[in-house]
Amino acid sequence: MAKDIIIAPSILASDFSKLGDEIAAVDRAGADWIHLDVMDGNFVPNITFGPPIIKAVRKSSKKVFDCHLMIENADLYLKDFADAGADMICVHEEASTHLDRSLQVIRDLGCKAGVALNPHTSEHTLEYVLDRLDMILLMTVNPGFGGQAFIPSVIDKVARVKAMIGDRDIHIQVDGGIDPTTAPLVAAAGANSLVAGSAVFKGGTEEAYRANITAIREAAQKAQ
Ligand code: DX5
Ligand code: ZN
Repeated sequence: MAKDIIIAPSILASDFSKLGDEIAAVDRAGADWIHLDVMDGNFVPNITFGPPIIKAVRKSSKKVFDCHLMIENADLYLKDFADAGADMICVHEEASTHLDRSLQVIRDLGCKAGVALNPHTSEHTLEYVLDRLDMILLMTVNPGFGGQAFIPSVIDKVARVKAMIGDRDIHIQVDGGIDPTTAPLVAAAGANSLVAGSAVFKGGTEEAYRANITAIREAAQKAQ
């Protein structure tokens, strides 16, 4: 049976001047998870925020805090993210030297463990860590910025990952350019956790967020 669709608004597209209020608004508007994009200006050409900000906004929602680490040397900071209130910690395969160890550490910290793959990275890099994983994030844009165009070649990769994980309880997440037009393509291929920044936060009000989340969810559910 297909897993339930999870909508994870990326706060990268929110108004940072009122970040706590924005998180509370998407929570009330139907978000399942809150997706937090951490960028270091090194692994990706952009800088966002780190554990102190996550800790500060943790009180704004009880939903799953899904932390997408686009950083080098993530091992040095895993405990800080766990202490800040992360529920899911997702590291990039391309930024990891000892991925197996990093995933063990994340679970030992009491968090769910995810690995993100850039559009060009083969899913085969994860074959030997599948039993340490709670989520595989397939980037549908090159990481670093919101508002980029969806890369269609990742649709086949979603289907290959779906086959690779078999009956393991692993979420398949997609991130980048997800909207009511692209959500059905990835949901039909097997993705169940959909990150969306621009497509959720457009309109700038809680009512708009509710309509945007509903539109993405319904489009994905119909395609499952
Ligand atoms: C990109 C980030 C995404 C981004 C998605 O590096 O990982 O989470 O916020 O933004 P949209 O949905 O606007 O493509
Ligand atoms: Zn992300």
